[in-house]
Amino acid sequence: MTVEARWDLNLHRASSVTSRDVDRNQILYDRLADFYSDRALLPAERVALGRLGPILAETDMLDLGVGGGRTGYTFAPLVNRYVGLDYSPRMIERARQTIGDDSNVELIVGDARDLSAVRGSFGFVLFSLNGIDAAAPSERPRILAEIHRVLRPDGCLLLSSHSLNALPLTAERSRPARWRNSTIYRSYAMVDDLRLRLRISRINREIDLVDARRRGWTLVRGRGHPGVVECYVDPEFQVRQLSEAGFETLMTIGADGRQVEIPYDGPDPWLDYLCEPRS
Ligand SMILES: C[S@@+](CC[C@H](N)C(=O)[O-])C[C@H]1O[C@@H](n2cnc3c(N)ncnc32)[C@H](O)[C@@H]1O
Repeated sequence: MTVEARWDLNLHRASSVTSRDVDRNQILYDRLADFYSDRALLPAERVALGRLGPILAETDMLDLGVGGGRTGYTFAPLVNRYVGLDYSPRMIERARQTIGDDSNVELIVGDARDLSAVRGSFGFVLFSLNGIDAAAPSERPRILAEIHRVLRPDGCLLLSSHSLNALPLTAERSRPARWRNSTIYRSYAMVDDLRLRLRISRINREIDLVDARRRGWTLVRGRGHPGVVECYVDPEFQVRQLSEAGFETLMTIGADGRQVEIPYDGPDPWLDYLCEPRS
């Protein structure tokens, strides 16, 4: 049985969230474009930036699921050619405002599942902030195969994906200490905490964790944004899937930027996988 068929078969068993829910992600992300206004790199992206530093000026970069242009804001001025792609037209509009339209920048409405419209090959492919988790599980191997096809043999991929070890989700929100003495703020925080706890417990109820651990992944609805369904993957499973797609994982990076060893059971919400094509 092919990997895709295995994922399809498993999807039918994956909690109450269905592939139809995953199909709505594209529409939902298009509506969320205004939320994507950040410009700062995340720790794992800074690690990749440091590693690629000396060769960035000669590197052609493909930024998949570019969103509002957070990563392109830093990378586009540093690389030789920068291509940002997203299946949401409004995200691409937003990315254009953030990154600008220098002559080395191309921003394309397109789907990571089919990169045939993307010209050339790349020394660095980035799929940041769990963008791949918006795809149906059965489509992940296809996305990795497309990335492998457009990546140069000496290139590298940085892929982030939610970690199954973050489940069950916890209802924690960090709050600024400076407002702790305000009665109005404390009342607001109490109501907000209660709403968050109710939401998280509803999400957790949809997850069959025993089955998810056995399978290596599960679908989670509404953690990041209402209605958006995302895949959470066991880190060992992810490394194996990357290997099946022809990648060697050079480094697995925790949410705070430190390197972690696989197998890994830390509670990081997501991990980043720095990989290169196997020769
Ligand atoms: C969580 S956001 C991350 C945005 C950006 N990469 C960042 O780090 O700020 C995920 C982005 O991936 C895009 N996306 C998800 N699946 C995609 C696919 N199959 N093809 C293209 N874009 C996709 C969504 O539209 C969304 O903009």
